[in-house]
Amino acid sequence: MNFNLNQVLDSARDGIFIVARDHRLVLFNHACEELYNVSREDVIDKACWKLSDFEKSWNEAARSGGRVTYGELGAKKERMILPHKSGKQVWVETIYTPIFDEQKNEIAYVMGVIKDITELKVMEQEKERLQQEIGKMRGELGSQYDFSSIVGRSGPIMQVLKLAAEVAQENTTVMLVGESGTGKELVAKAIHYNSHRAGKPFVALNCSAFPETLIESELFGYEKGAFTGAEKSKPGKIQIASGGTLFLDEVTEMTPATQAKILRVIQEREFEPLGSVKPQQADIRIVAASNKDLEPLVKKGLFREDLFYRLFVYPIAIPPLRERPEDLEPLIEHLLTKFNHQMAKRIQGIAPAAMEILKNYDWPGNVRELQNVMERLMILSKGEAIQVDDLPRYVVETMKLHTNSGHDSNDRIPAGFSLERTVDQFESRIIRQALKQCEANKSRAANLLGLSRSTFRYKVSRLKNYLNQS
Ligand SMILES: Nc1ncnc2c1ncn2[C@@H]1O[C@H](COP(=O)(O)OP(=O)(O)OP(=O)(O)O)[C@@H](O)[C@H]1O
Ligand SMILES: [Mg+2]
Repeated sequence: MNFNLNQVLDSARDGIFIVARDHRLVLFNHACEELYNVSREDVIDKACWKLSDFEKSWNEAARSGGRVTYGELGAKKERMILPHKSGKQVWVETIYTPIFDEQKNEIAYVMGVIKDITELKVMEQEKERLQQEIGKMRGELGSQYDFSSIVGRSGPIMQVLKLAAEVAQENTTVMLVGESGTGKELVAKAIHYNSHRAGKPFVALNCSAFPETLIESELFGYEKGAFTGAEKSKPGKIQIASGGTLFLDEVTEMTPATQAKILRVIQEREFEPLGSVKPQQADIRIVAASNKDLEPLVKKGLFREDLFYRLFVYPIAIPPLRERPEDLEPLIEHLLTKFNHQMAKRIQGIAPAAMEILKNYDWPGNVRELQNVMERLMILSKGEAIQVDDLPRYVVETMKLHTNSGHDSNDRIPAGFSLERTVDQFESRIIRQALKQCEANKSRAANLLGLSRSTFRYKVSRLKNYLNQS
């Protein structure tokens, strides 16, 4: 097909102009006319007025007698605003390219290609605005998660706060160990928002929430075509957390293959998205958490020993709520204020008898359970103070009876009490303690309690609901 070059140039969406050595404009396509809002006849053959950048390079090269390379001029880009005839401001980017005369060994022309980048510019401005907004929101989030959000005055919680505050500013990997609901994620966030990474994302990954096949793509991301259905590449949590903190929750649930890859991330700060052979740098701080004891798992070969040591560089143990009863009252007070505010209520406090029951309850679900109980109480409570009758039945029923020598003969058996449930709870607490002491070795625990293995097994299976609560 024959075509007319001028027609082609006039159909181009980008503005194209050519300036000769004597600065005369020799080509000015239709898109240029639109962008500059001038007609070709008015400017063609006239000295070009917008070549200051290019002129400099041209003259310098001419002075030094050398050739101006493509790269030198090609790299010349300029961005400016042109007043469009529609009255709108148009952002353009011009790229200059020299056209060389091989025979004369000099630049004969310079071509400029002008692109309308208004949309890009608007997107860049929007991105900047969003980034500022995200920064502001992170700042607000940060104040929500500073150390003062961790309520408690007991020795153990003060120790947790001290350890967390001391390590926050470092890049050290932190391992949080504690029963479910003790506040591991809360502490992890406080560490992040008090570190120099606070302006970057805090990204949590619950290792137990994904099947083996998915966890690696969640963590490392994947390239387009890495597997059937991978139509686009997708960043993993490590890329999303870049510059920030990756919170690996329930680390014990990782498969051996994932454990090996995480070890590499911690040791070499490197990983590969699925389907890629190009290693990427991982700029993340890792905070891990587990509600299981890791040592017995290492002994059984279920958790890599080398990863265990990498994670346990800085362990912080958060004790269960029942081991820090001094925290109960400040926590209840904190929750009263919080829910009063959220629900626009004015509940003043807890009646002493009800408080006594709450204090004697075991809280197998720790602070999360306390939070749920308080929320329910405050929704249902009609009076100014929460009474015994408002409390959930199971809390009242499973109230600990003082069975030790300090038993107070004035203790009254509360309404709704069940001997059977209380004994079951008491038994399961002792079994739990024995298992802990024997590092989950069932034969040794049975021995310690003076039970045969089969009786011990029977009891564990009968009480499994209580035992699983912690
Ligand atoms: N010391 C505390 N002060 C105030 N709130 C707390 C405290 N500890 C825990 N909480 C609250 O209790 C709830 C449970 O805490 P979090 O999710 O951090 O527990 P977790 O240890 O991560 O539990 P799980 O192992 O089940 O994931 C959260 O709403 C948290 O804000
Ligand atoms: Mg958690």
